[in-house]
Amino acid sequence: MGIRFIFMLTRNDKTVESAEVHLETALAEGVHHIGFKDIGLPFARLKKLNDAIKAGGATSYLEVVSLDKESEIASAKAAVDIGVDVLLGGTHVDAVLPILRATGIEYFPFPGKISGHPSVLDGSVEEIVSSAKDLTSRDGVHGLDLLAYRSPGDVEALMAAVCAATDKPVIMAGSIDNRDRVADVQKSGAAGFTVGTAALDGDYPAQAGDLSFQLQAIMKDVAEVNNHVSNVVVKNLDAAFAKFDEPWSPRVAGRINTMLLKLVKLEGAFTWHYHTIEDELFLVHRGKMLMKFRDRDEVLNPGEFIIVPHGVEHCPVALSDICEVLLLEPETTLNTGNATDQRTVRELKQV
Ligand code: NI
Repeated sequence: MGIRFIFMLTRNDKTVESAEVHLETALAEGVHHIGFKDIGLPFARLKKLNDAIKAGGATSYLEVVSLDKESEIASAKAAVDIGVDVLLGGTHVDAVLPILRATGIEYFPFPGKISGHPSVLDGSVEEIVSSAKDLTSRDGVHGLDLLAYRSPGDVEALMAAVCAATDKPVIMAGSIDNRDRVADVQKSGAAGFTVGTAALDGDYPAQAGDLSFQLQAIMKDVAEVNNHVSNVVVKNLDAAFAKFDEPWSPRVAGRINTMLLKLVKLEGAFTWHYHTIEDELFLVHRGKMLMKFRDRDEVLNPGEFIIVPHGVEHCPVALSDICEVLLLEPETTLNTGNATDQRTVRELKQV
C-alpha cells in the first residue's frame, strides 16, 4: 500500500485562484488524490472543481480550515453538497458528525487544539494523543488529519505517538516540503500526507519549479520511500540467447509472480513427458520446432506459440540447427515433467 500523496490546490491554507489550471496539470501527472480548502473560492466553484477531480479519476478532499463553529458547519454542509470523497480537518466534531451521517463521506478531523490561519497545532504530545484517541473512538470518524509540522514540539515523536494511538489512518497535513519530511511521515506509520504551498510555489526540491516537475519529484520520493520502485531494465532476447549454448537446459530470464520466463535451446528430440499440474507455453524465437503429441504433430515457426495443458503428453523436437524457444510456466515446472532422466534440470541458471 504505502503512504498516499494528496495534492492540495491551496497556498497558505487557501484554495488558489488558478485551481482549475493546476488541477489539469496534476491529473496529467497521474496524481490520484487531490484536495482543496473551504477558504479561497466560492462553494459553487469548489463544486465544479470537485466534479473535475472526480471526472479525472482522482479521489477528492475538502479540508476545513475555518476556525469558528458556524463556518465549519457551513463547510461540512458544503462538502455534502459538493460531493467530496473525504472531509479533512475541522475541530467541531460533534456538530459535523450528524451532517455527514449516511453520506458516504470519510471524515478525518484535526486532533488537538488548532488556532490561527494558516493553522497551527497547539498542546503537548500527550494532549494531542488524548484528543486523537477520543476522536477515533467515535463512529463516523474514519481517520485523523494531523498538523504535525505546524506543532511546536518534537514532530517525529508526535507523528509516531498519534499513529500508535489508533488503528485508523492518519494523514499528515501542512508544511511538508522535502524528501526528509516525506520519509519521516512514512516512518511514523501515517497513511498519507498533503502538499499544497510547497509545490505551487516551486519550493519542493526538484529539477525545476514548474508544478509538473514539483509533482513528479514528490511522487518519485513517495515511490522510493514506499519501496515501490525496482531496478527494471529492458532485456534483449538475442543477447540473452547468446549467453549460453547448452541444449535442453532452460535459463531463467525473468519472474512474473509465481511464473518463470525461461529461455531454452533445442537440439534434436527431447523426452516424452507430461506435467501433472503445470501448463507450459512454448514461443519460438529463432528456428523451427516440432511439438509432438500422441494424436498429432504441430510445427512452430518464429513468432508462433503453443500452450501445452497439464496432463497432455508432449515431446518437443528441434527442426533446425538453431532452435531458440521461450517458455512461460509455473516455477514448479520440471523440464522433463514425470519422466526424470539425465536431461532433468532441477537447479536452473539465470540469464
Ligand atoms: Ni514439458
